Formats: sequence, structure tokens, C-alpha cells
Amino acid sequence: MTQFYPPEAYGELNDGISQVLFTEDEIQARVLAIGQAISRDYEGCHPLMVGVLKGVFPFMSDLLRAITIPVEVDFMAIASYSSQARDKGYVRLQKDLDESIAGRHVLFVEDVVDTGLTLNYLLGNLRARQPASLKVCALFNKSRRRLISVPLQYKGFDLPDKFVVGYGLDYRELYRNLPFVGLLKPAVFAPNGS
Ligand code: IMP
Repeated sequence: MTQFYPPEAYGELNDGISQVLFTEDEIQARVLAIGQAISRDYEGCHPLMVGVLKGVFPFMSDLLRAITIPVEVDFMAIASYSSQARDKGYVRLQKDLDESIAGRHVLFVEDVVDTGLTLNYLLGNLRARQPASLKVCALFNKSRRRLISVPLQYKGFDLPDKFVVGYGLDYRELYRNLPFVGLLKPAVFAPNGS
């Protein structure tokens, strides 16, 4: 059941999209199913959902409302480094969690896992704080580009080895507000930021 608008309503943004990979309805149906699984698995555990800004916020917001048990939310933010620094798995925390996670059941929520380097770094960082448990929920998975193995206990969709935008995922800070996910036209997308 579409909540927002059809793609054409997004005018200039939609004009930059060459192909829709996942419609709003497909995304919402999958988010609901993941939320139901989490509600079942964490019954009685009072989990803490931890998201990484900014890309995760639409997913986190919908997932939160698809969960029917008591749950808390916190966010981290990381600085974007040059592609060389990221290739080495370097991540700098720009915003840390507000509360201690020691002894908590933590569910780490990611928008997309690509090489896995960012997630691997952040999981190491969180594990050192001694949560009671630590699991990962990722909406999108680009397994073909993985450089390091990372556990994904809850997963939305597999993606091809292509750059996608929409539903929180940006290109130069734009396209996050699309309720669907798609590929950018080559005329719009310059991978090296040129
Ligand atoms: P990783 O360290 O390579 O796994 O990078 C994951 C991060 O890269 C995500 O949290 C996104 O911020 C970003 N990212 C990876 N693929 C895409 C994409 O297709 N579109 C937008 N951002 C992406």
C-alpha cells in the first residue's frame, strides 16, 4: 500500500533514475516482515536498536514501527573519509551512542553493507563495550563486493554490484527522500565525484 507518491511526483530526482530496483511497496512489505521476525526473536529482551547516520534513518524509522515489542533507539554518526582511507577500513566516529550498551541486547541496523569494512569496524567497537548480544540487520546487501566477512542476521534485499540511491541512500547528499530505490542514469552518476 503506497504511503507517499508515485515516482513521477519526484520530478527532477526521478528524472535522474534509470531503473527502479525496489518499489515503495516492495520495501515496506520487506521491512514489515523483518520487524515481525525481530519482534518474535527479541520477545522479553528489551533490545536497543543502533543505527548509523545518515543513510539508515528512513529504514530505522519504518523498522521501528514494524516492531511490536518494547525497544529503544540510539544513533552513531561516522565521518566520510577519502576512498583510500575507507578501503583500509578506517572509520572516525562523529557522534557516539548516548548510553552505555554493557549488558544490553543490541541490534545494529545498517542501510547497505558493501565491502563490509565499515560494519566490521563498528561491530568491533561495539563488542568492546560488552553488550549481552550483538546482531546485525541490514536492508541491502552487496555480497559481491565484500572484502571482509560480516554476520547479517536480518537482511532485506540483495543488490547487484551497482551504486543505488533512494530510501536514505544518497548521491552527493541528494535522493535520500525517494521512497523507492533505483539506479542513477550514467549522465548523473560520476563515481569519482568529478
Ligand atoms: P562498506 O564499508 O563498503 O560496507 O560501506 C557501507 C557504506 O557505504 C554504507 O553505509 C553507505 O553509506 C555506503 N554505500 C555503499 N553502497 C552504496 C550505494 O549503492 N549507494 C549509496 N551509498 C552506498
